[in-house]
This record gives sequence, C-alpha cells and structure tokens, in this order.
Amino acid sequence: MTRPRVLVTRRLPSAVLARVEAACDMDLYDGADAIARAELLARVRGVDGVVCLLTERIDDEVLAAAGPSLRVVANVAVGYDNLDVAAARARGVVVTNTPGVLTEATADLTWTLILSVMRRVTEGDRLVRAGRWAGWALDFMLGTDLRGKQLGIVGYGRIGRAVGARAAAFGMRVAYTTIGDDQGGVSLDALLSTSDVVSLHVPLTPQTRHLIDQRALARMRRRAYLINTSRGPVVDEAALAWALREGIIAGAALDVYEREPVVHEALIGLENVVLAPHLGSATIETRTAMADLAVTNLLAVLEGRPPVTPITGGP
Ligand code: GLV
Repeated sequence: MTRPRVLVTRRLPSAVLARVEAACDMDLYDGADAIARAELLARVRGVDGVVCLLTERIDDEVLAAAGPSLRVVANVAVGYDNLDVAAARARGVVVTNTPGVLTEATADLTWTLILSVMRRVTEGDRLVRAGRWAGWALDFMLGTDLRGKQLGIVGYGRIGRAVGARAAAFGMRVAYTTIGDDQGGVSLDALLSTSDVVSLHVPLTPQTRHLIDQRALARMRRRAYLINTSRGPVVDEAALAWALREGIIAGAALDVYEREPVVHEALIGLENVVLAPHLGSATIETRTAMADLAVTNLLAVLEGRPPVTPITGGP
C-alpha cells in the first residue's frame, strides 16, 4: 500500500514528527520563517494531508493546488481563522484544530498580561534597563489593585472560563458576555461600562472583527484596562492607540495584532501598553501537546477514522 503524502509546514517537536514519518511520506518545510505562499502552493501539490500553523492561510487556492488527493488539514492552533472552512468542506477535506490542550497556558498568559499592565512591570523593566531608576519612593510607579475589581470576559468558552476561574485568587469578581450565541451573561455594552479589566476570548469571525472599536473603547471606564489574547483583528489597533493616548482607558496588554508580526506604530511609543509576541500557548508542554493533537487528527483521517477534534462550526 502506498503511504500517504503529508506536508508539514513548520518544524514540530521531533517526537511528534516521528509519528508522521512512521506512517507517511513526510515533506517538512524546515525554514526559519513561515513558509512563503509560493512555496506552500508548490509543495502542497498532490498531498493527502497538511499539518499547518496559524501563519499559513489555507484558502481555496491552496486546496485547489493540493488537488483531489487532499483529505485533511490539521491546524496546530485552536483559532482557525486562517482556514477557509467552507471551501475545505465543499472539497470534502476534513479540517481540525487543537482545542482544550492550550486552555490553561493561554489563561495563565492572560493573567500575566493583566498583572503586567496593572502593576506596570514592563514599563518598570524598561526604566531600570535605561538606567533611569532613582530608587524606592512612596509615590513611584503606582499601579492599580486587582482586589475588589471586576473582570469582564468577552467570550465565555473554554479559555474565557479558565481565565474567570483564576479571578477569585486575585479577589476579582467576574462578569461575562457571549458573542454570537445566547448563553447568557450581560450585554457587551453593560460589560464594557462596568468592568475594570476587559479580556477578549472570542474567535475571529466576521462578527467579531473590530468588535472593540472606537465606540466600544469610549464605553469603557477611564481607569479600565483592555487585554487581548484572542486574535488581533478583534481590536481596531488605531482606535486603541487613540484611546490609550487620550486617556480614554488606563492601559492595555496585547498578545495578538492585526497584521502580525507588524505592530501598529502608534502603540510602540506608548508606555501604558504591554506588547507580547503572541505567546498565549507558548510553553514547551502546551506546544508539544498541540502538535501531538494535530498529528493525531491527521493520522486518524488518513487511516479512515474520525479525528479527535474536527472543526464543526464555521466560518
Ligand atoms: C493560538 O493563537 C491558537 O489559536 O492556538
């Protein structure tokens, strides 16, 4: 029997790659940066499966380039806005993602950002490194207490709930809103106008693109903070820069950006924003588990079994 051909678009942990190699003819793109579009289109030709990252846009052009042999695209990420799910479905290609295994790491990173911005840690780090620290003073670099404040969670799925579960440890109360379904919570406007910290945990969809725009920012409290560990385009970065500059909100902490790895120029110069380089799931354990789950999904489909975590929703 011929072995299935699989394109892996980036180096994965070697134990995980070994699982692909044991069952498939693997073509590994091993470049330092994300695979270029032209290279992706060329190397996908005639494969049975693709393991890709969120840096690859898998749209109908890629699916067409792969051709009718393609059976599965396994995304090593929980977010799948980089995949054209409808186009894959129309071509009978199974698409999978990696929910669950990155929930805790992403919730931890969210709290890292909440604490960093409210206690001005990265701002202080810059000051120390610049040799501008004059010593302890009673009124020096004062941040904001977490205790007694309200954490407003936008999107109450796995990650939103895990973020909420940690709030009690910091003495914060939780409010939440859901977007695109009616699972309860308060309205977005009510959440924005009553929360001291607003944390985003929605997938990127046409409905959530620029959910946090100038109007939404204007609804937030002047002493409030915005945290984004979901997807960059959920926030209008130009509007956020305006809100931070004008004191419409107190601060922000971002892990994701509208045009990664580019960060809006206006944000770079601001002290009241923490800028992390998309680290939500970036722990050794979690990234290994994500790659492993993606490969489990890939092999299941190639062996004629249902994948563990198929993408069932749209878009
Ligand atoms: C990372 O951003 C993911 O969606 O897994």
